[in-house]
Amino acid sequence: MTLLFSFPDQFELQKSLLQNSNFAKGEWEWRHFPDGESYVRLLSDVKGRSAIILCSLNRPDEKILPLAFLASTLKELGAKKITLIAPYLGYLRQDKRFKPGEAITSSHFANLLTHYIDALVTIDPHLHRIQKLQDIYNCECTRLSAASLMAKVIVHTIKAPLLIGPDQESEQWVKDISEQANAPYLILSKIRHGDRDVEITLPHIEGYKNHTPVLIDDIISSAATMIKAVDLLKKQGIQEVVCIATHAVFATNAYEALINRNGVKVITTNAIPHISNGIDIAPLFTALNL
Ligand code: R5P
Repeated sequence: MTLLFSFPDQFELQKSLLQNSNFAKGEWEWRHFPDGESYVRLLSDVKGRSAIILCSLNRPDEKILPLAFLASTLKELGAKKITLIAPYLGYLRQDKRFKPGEAITSSHFANLLTHYIDALVTIDPHLHRIQKLQDIYNCECTRLSAASLMAKVIVHTIKAPLLIGPDQESEQWVKDISEQANAPYLILSKIRHGDRDVEITLPHIEGYKNHTPVLIDDIISSAATMIKAVDLLKKQGIQEVVCIATHAVFATNAYEALINRNGVKVITTNAIPHISNGIDIAPLFTALNL
């Protein structure tokens, strides 16, 4: 039986995956020494067995070292295959050298990770200029999508939804969700001037007066994108706006800044544990043969 190891912030998801699959629980210990270095110990016998590590790679800088230590120890102690399930895969957005001398961290991070793992499973990775994960991840890659789960939530909980993608990149999932939810959609245009500074253009949505705008994105990070789009909708007299995203990255105070706007509801998946989680991704993994 494949062993499923989890990082502490995903114990809930691990529990639900264990209930709905043939995986057995992998036991390990991770703590910090007084000097801040990591102590990692494997408690399950992995010899000759496949192992899965469940670790969403938000805050990747603090997780990558313990992840490398765990994966290396699994390999040393005889695991035959190591699969990383990273519901959120970080370091995908810097996929180009925009200014001379910049590190293309999407490739460097991919090279680093693939040194330790044999296979990667992730959900709605932020692929923009990179066509597919295999272009930078030199291992077996599986890309899942939360679109069908989002479509179900929209159909069951939102009256007359008008789906809105805040930028061109979002069209790939918004179009898919619109087909599954049988709802109209619009794609806005966005120019990013800085980490927390975006310019968005919203057309007049007069014709959708009786609809509920549902902003859909893969990631909410600084929330600048969602906030700008919400504010433009408010200017057109819209009262209620629903914001849906796969990955609740939420930088400091970003969630509060978004939710404090009147009439805004935020729903995210538990790809990253967060107070706004309202969509469970566990069903996406049941068909996987790992
Ligand atoms: C960008 O291309 C992504 O799809 C999201 O729109 C973006 O990552 C959101 O970032 P933020 O919340 O910082 O505006």
